[in-house]
Amino acid sequence: MSRVPRAAILPPTPANLRKLAAVLARGGLVAVPTETVYGLAADALNARACAEIFRAKGRPHTDPLIVHVASAHEAETLAVVNDAARKVMAAFWPGPLTIVLPKRGVVPDIVTAGGASVAVRCPAHATMRKLMALTRRPLAAPSANPFGYISPTTARHVQNGLGERIRFILDGGASQVGVESTILDLTHPAAPRILRSGGISAAQLRRVLGRTVATVNRTGSAKRRQAAPGMLTQHYSPDTPLTLHDTIPLARLRSAKADEAFLLFRQPRAKIPASVRVYVLSPRGQIEDAARRLYAGMHELDHAGFRRLHAELAPERGAGIAINDRLRRAAAKRSAK
Ligand code: TXA
Ligand code: MG
Repeated sequence: MSRVPRAAILPPTPANLRKLAAVLARGGLVAVPTETVYGLAADALNARACAEIFRAKGRPHTDPLIVHVASAHEAETLAVVNDAARKVMAAFWPGPLTIVLPKRGVVPDIVTAGGASVAVRCPAHATMRKLMALTRRPLAAPSANPFGYISPTTARHVQNGLGERIRFILDGGASQVGVESTILDLTHPAAPRILRSGGISAAQLRRVLGRTVATVNRTGSAKRRQAAPGMLTQHYSPDTPLTLHDTIPLARLRSAKADEAFLLFRQPRAKIPASVRVYVLSPRGQIEDAARRLYAGMHELDHAGFRRLHAELAPERGAGIAINDRLRRAAAKRSAK
């Protein structure tokens, strides 16, 4: 029996960008680079095309999609934008911030899982922006991974996860932020809430909005439709069981068994035995570097044939909050799903 061909990884040449814009215009799927993680994109105003996203990812239809726009102006065509949203758009767009707002009628129900709100984001990645300038339409795009698995930050990660279910991957290099966007719910602008921590912190949002921003992403309100499954207890998970530690001391590394590997936040000060497999997120313990390398480290160790992975938590500040949020969900037991 012949296997389905692997998805092609296409460099972002002008000819490829034109070709992929045409694929999107006729309702096809294209995996696209963004500054956070790679997305699996379709024309957001084409319900049939969006249905293909759910099929390719194995994603439940109760889980709404983020719609990517080229500008704040384009967001106004999809969502009822309030002044608070305008302020954060002016401050953080293009960039790793998704805003949840009341939706307009043009947005198909499948995109919002039948709900009254839509999540909009204006990505900063130059290649993605070139593609959007050619498509001239909003693109629905969840992270380009099989549902529940580690998110992709390179074209190769996408190919490994979805290569037999999609045809086109646009290569934009390694994602520079490395964890998904912050999701800010502004459907009630007087009570802004972060539904998922990401590249933009609560403190940054508070400074721009001039009011307290609640974070609800650890309260497990995942039963409601609008809860991000980023909010599901178990998500972003490697196949190999993962155990978390506040710190992994040198003595623990020195007594490591051959079938375990370690995801370290920073380079240990003393030498580790060469036989112990470690992936260091940031040599100097710098939080943004660690966020950028988090998923690459998880992918690499998950494919290396170990029986158990251990990861060290990041300092609980800035992007460290997003790193720890993803690590905790990645470590949660599958049965908790
Ligand atoms: O950085 C990102 O946000 C990446 C890149 C590709 O843009 N996208 C991404 O999409 O992480 P996804 O589908 O993996 O996660 C989007 C989250 C989901 O947890 C979904 O439930 C939530 O956004 N979401 C989408 N629409 C929503 C809405 N109307 N209300 C609340 N949550 C929503
Ligand atoms: Mg995702």
